[in-house]
Amino acid sequence: MDVNGTPYRSIWLAEDGRQVEIIDQTRLPHEFSVVQLSSLDAAATAIRDMLVRGAPLIGATAAYGFCLGLHEGTDNHALEKIAQTLVDCRPTAVNLRWAVERMLRLLTPIAESLRVEKAYEAAAAICEEDVLTNAAIGQHGAALIKAILDKKEKKEPVNILTHCNAGWLATVDWGTALETIFRAHQDGVPVHVWVDETRPRNQGAHLTAWELVSAGIDHHLIVDNAGGHLMQHGQVDLCIVGTDRTAASGDVCNKIGTYLKALAAFDNQIPFYVALPGSTIDWQVTDGVGGIPIEERSQEEVLLVQGLHGDKVEGVHIAPKTTPALNPAFDVTPARLVTGLITERGVCAASSEGLLSLYPEKR
Ligand code: MRU
Repeated sequence: MDVNGTPYRSIWLAEDGRQVEIIDQTRLPHEFSVVQLSSLDAAATAIRDMLVRGAPLIGATAAYGFCLGLHEGTDNHALEKIAQTLVDCRPTAVNLRWAVERMLRLLTPIAESLRVEKAYEAAAAICEEDVLTNAAIGQHGAALIKAILDKKEKKEPVNILTHCNAGWLATVDWGTALETIFRAHQDGVPVHVWVDETRPRNQGAHLTAWELVSAGIDHHLIVDNAGGHLMQHGQVDLCIVGTDRTAASGDVCNKIGTYLKALAAFDNQIPFYVALPGSTIDWQVTDGVGGIPIEERSQEEVLLVQGLHGDKVEGVHIAPKTTPALNPAFDVTPARLVTGLITERGVCAASSEGLLSLYPEKR
């Protein structure tokens, strides 16, 4: 992705070939700041404190975190410790476990002396695959957006509502849900995006809006509760969101508030699509509501709003100091509310049959 004329990914290997660099997403959109990760601990903190976030990027950071951890020890005990440290960082996005299990499967059977080199190769491969996967998701999703434009008599812009940030910052590059929009825009389809601010951490306001400004795409920021109203008044043609974990049944778990958008879309017969790479499918979970662990984050994220004050990013209290808060970070949208899943292999119904038709090797 282009940042003021410079191409960036959201994670990359530093020039020394050992450390890893990321963009500190807690500073955006006010400050573009690159941070070096030089240890397993630093990588784990970056995931836990959400300097990096978004399911695919969490997976990629975990893979590089594994590499960094190997500099502290390469025996089997070290592998287990690294894996546990990383998996414990955040519970919902399944890419974290997916990446850690992939590293373990690769490294456990090989000689200790080869582990560091092979780990770096594998982390780089995870990143490259993510980029290719997202490009394919973009193509399939852009075709859906184009099909909606084709049905419009006056060919006015396609209005797309999105929640949270499923753009290039949430992946290694391009994004999932947002890549469908970037791609449609590049293909000449007029688009306009309704960006849910996405309380409590405001990934929509901070990150999605920033990406859309950089890409020159027409958009408006809306409060989280505006979507239903806009849908009732014909101002939303379709919704596209990402997912942190997709159950084998097609239920999708995404940022808190996604479920309410899907309900409103269903009530207004508006297509509700979810874009995802195969790595976010948890084939072991068949019931999303009962089977996906929902991360509960700190009360502070709800009780304080973060923003730029002067030249500092600060939190401002918005509730009485003694009011407690509850902060579930994700919710599950049942498959019956999802029009379709946009994957790197094509678009399918949100159902086990739909998913298995694209991933027959999981039968
Ligand atoms: O808590 P976050 O910011 O990590 O949550 C991210 C999301 O919910 C995204 O929508 C999801 O990871 C899909 S990103 C391709």
